[in-house]
Amino acid sequence: MSDLVVVTDADGIRTIRMNRPEKKNALTQPMYAAMTAALDGAGKSDAIRCVLIAGAPGAFSAGSDIGDFQKRAETGLEPVTVDFLHALAASRKPLVAAVNGLAVGIGTTMMFHCDHVVAAAGAVFSTPFVKLGLIPEAASSLLAPLLMGPARAFSLLVMGRPLSAEEAKAAGIVNTVVEAEKVETVALEAAREIALLPPGAVALSRQLLRGHLDAVAGRVDTEAMHFKERLRSEEARAAFAAFLTRKK
Ligand code: COA
Repeated sequence: MSDLVVVTDADGIRTIRMNRPEKKNALTQPMYAAMTAALDGAGKSDAIRCVLIAGAPGAFSAGSDIGDFQKRAETGLEPVTVDFLHALAASRKPLVAAVNGLAVGIGTTMMFHCDHVVAAAGAVFSTPFVKLGLIPEAASSLLAPLLMGPARAFSLLVMGRPLSAEEAKAAGIVNTVVEAEKVETVALEAAREIALLPPGAVALSRQLLRGHLDAVAGRVDTEAMHFKERLRSEEARAAFAAFLTRKK
């Protein structure tokens, strides 16, 4: 397991912490692989009742690593990101997220698969896919319009306009907004509450609430096919180069 993703188990809760703060938790392929393994492992463990996904102070995640995007555009290599998206969508355990700071790209679209989200008052959710010449992923093109309506979904996913924590709560992807220092405690409390419920009843209820799993998995694959093509487009290559050579 990479130390860029730290996995700890306690009291029936598996915490998966993205841990690359110097890069605002931009996610690399090994990090995706580690997170997939942690989710799959939780699904197979009777002892784990709930999974908590957390980041670093100030950065839940800056999304996929743009250097990785550039490499993938050059090599055409199959990403392990898609395995992570399937593991997330098919998680057998309830997912709680503690979002402090930035949640960009997949940092935001992960929320569509979480069952309970606690965000810091200053958290910002954004998905600049289209600005990067890309398209939305993680079945967000299906789930966002269902959850928040087509107008808000377009603003978020296509126009790339960010949502504040309160706007994300109004849009239905955040449960609770608290001060930054309290995010992890409040998220852990929610995870503990879920972990104490009868697991069989939780699993079945969750399955019923998320009733469209085949459609979600199908959309993950359709988006991934287009995403791969878009990565190699001139629009995307120019956007990656602009980010990677920008002057601060
Ligand atoms: N991929 C690769 N590196 C990233 C990254 C990403 N997605 N996001 C941040 N980083 C790196 C920066 O290049 C910088 O590295 P450096 O210190 O070696 O120069 C470091 O993380 C810190 O980021 P910085 O930009 O200095 O922090 P900031 O607070 O000014 O801005 C962001 C943070 C997230 C707004 C900005 O980094 C950004 O826009 N990142 C890209 C987000 C993105 O488009 N993700 C893909 C979504 S599909």
